Amino acid sequence: MNPSSPESTAGSPSENSEPVSENAEPASDNSGSASQNGSVASSVDPFASAQLGPITLRNRIIKAATFEGVMPEALVTPELIEYHRVVAAGGVGMTTVAYLAVSPEGRTHAECLWMREAAIPGLTKLTEAIHAEGAKISGQIGHGGIVANGKSNQAQSIGPSKQFNPISFRSVKEATEADIDRVLKDFAKAARIAVTSGFDCLEIHLGHNYLPSSFLSPRLNKREDSWGGSLKNRAKFARQAVLSVREEVDGEVAVIAKLNMKDGIPDGLEIEESLEVAQMLEEDGGLDALELTGGSSYGNPMYLFRGEAPLKEFAKTLPPIPRLGFKLMGKKMMPSYPFKEAFFRDNAHRYLERLNLPIILLGGINELETIKSALNEGFAFVAMGRALLRTPDLIARMQAGEMAKGICIHCNKCMPTIYSGTRCYLDNPEPIKGSAPVA
Ligand SMILES: Cc1cc2nc3c(=O)[nH]c(=O)nc-3n(C[C@H](O)[C@H](O)[C@H](O)COP(=O)(O)O)c2cc1C
Ligand code: SF4
Repeated sequence: MNPSSPESTAGSPSENSEPVSENAEPASDNSGSASQNGSVASSVDPFASAQLGPITLRNRIIKAATFEGVMPEALVTPELIEYHRVVAAGGVGMTTVAYLAVSPEGRTHAECLWMREAAIPGLTKLTEAIHAEGAKISGQIGHGGIVANGKSNQAQSIGPSKQFNPISFRSVKEATEADIDRVLKDFAKAARIAVTSGFDCLEIHLGHNYLPSSFLSPRLNKREDSWGGSLKNRAKFARQAVLSVREEVDGEVAVIAKLNMKDGIPDGLEIEESLEVAQMLEEDGGLDALELTGGSSYGNPMYLFRGEAPLKEFAKTLPPIPRLGFKLMGKKMMPSYPFKEAFFRDNAHRYLERLNLPIILLGGINELETIKSALNEGFAFVAMGRALLRTPDLIARMQAGEMAKGICIHCNKCMPTIYSGTRCYLDNPEPIKGSAPVA
C-alpha cells in the first residue's frame, strides 16, 4: 500500500491534537513596517528582484514543494520538467522540486526521485528548462525516515527509534551510528549532485516528521544516546544535516530549510522548542533563509494543509484491507482543520521577532494582498503551493493586474494525486503517467 498524503502520510493519528487555535485573523498591516530581520524595507514590491543568499530571484514568490509523483524510475521524466516549466513560465521567482531523497531508503516510495549520479542528466535538463523561463530552481532534499514506505522502496526504513509503519506494514528500525553517519554524508552528496545539475538553491526538509523532524520530536525520538533526550541532542541531526550541505556547497547556491513550528501531534515538537531550534540553526550559520511549516505526514497531515480532508479520494489509493480500516477510522486518522488565508502567519511572526535569518512565509497564501502585507511585515519571501497548483500562471496574472487572488478552494483533492501525477484534481481528474526518464 502506498502512503497516503502529499509527502506520504504514514500515519495512524488516532490521538491527534485538537484543531489549532493559531489561525486567528491575520494581522493585515499594510503600512509597511520595517523588517525585523533587516532583509526588506517598507512597502516592499513583491515583483521586484530580491537576494536569497548568493542568488537573486526575479521576485519574492516561491513555488512551494508539492511532490510531483511522475517519476516511475526515480529519475527525471518529461512530465516533471513540464510541471515546473509551466510554473516558471507563470511568473514565480523560484520553483521547488520535491521531493529529492538523499538515500534510497529515504524515498517516500519507489517513485520518488533519489539523488544519484544517474539522475544528473535529467536534472540538468530540468534546471535548464526552468532557467530558460527566467526563474530559479530549488531542490527539496531530505530523508523520509519513518514516513518512507520500506515495502515499496524494498529497503529497510530508519527512524530515530523503532516504530511500526502502518502504511508498509513493516517495522522502522532505530538508526545506528553508522546509519546516521551515512545519511549525513548522503545530504552532502545530494547537494553536490544538485549543484552539478544546475540547481540554484537547496531546501533541506526538516519538517513533517520526516527523518530530521522525527529526530526533533520528543514523541518519536526515544533515544538515550547523544541523538536523543535533551532538545540539543534531538536537534543534532537536523543541525548536522544543514552543516553537511553548507560545507559541501558553501557560496555556490542558496541553502534554506523547511522547519516545523509544531508537529500537531501529542508530545510532538511544540513552538517553544522549535523557536530554540531555529535559533540554533541561525547560530550555526548554515542557512540563508528559513521556511516555516507544521504538521506530520506520519501523524497529522491536515495540520499542514487545513481545509477538508479528502477521505474518499484517499481511501481509493489504498489496497482493500487498509482501505476498509481507513473507511472506518479515516475521520479520526485525518482530522480536518478550518482553512484560513495565511494560516501559519501568527505563529511565524514569533520567528520574525526572534531571528535575524530571513523568513519565508508559507501556508494558505492565496491573495496578492496577503503577499504584500506579509512582505511589509518583514517576511523576506512567500511560498505558495496549492494556489499555484490550480493556477500555475497566477503570479504573472497578479502582476498584470488580471487576478487579485487564486481560485484554489482548498478541497485538498490534489493530495492523493501524488500517486497518479500531482495536479489540481478539480481541473484535471485524469491521472498523468510519468513516461520514460529523460536521458
Ligand atoms: C499535492 C501536494 C504535495 C506536497 N508535497 C510536499 C512535499 O513533497 N514536500 C513538502 O515539504 N511539502 C509538500 N506539500 C506541502 C506544501 O509545500 C505546503 O506546505 C502546503 O501545501 C501548504 O501551502 P499552501 O497552502 O500554499 O498549499 C505538498 C502539498 C500538496 C498540495
Ligand atoms: S482546488 Fe485544486 S489545487 Fe486547490 S486544493 Fe482542490 S484539488 Fe488542490
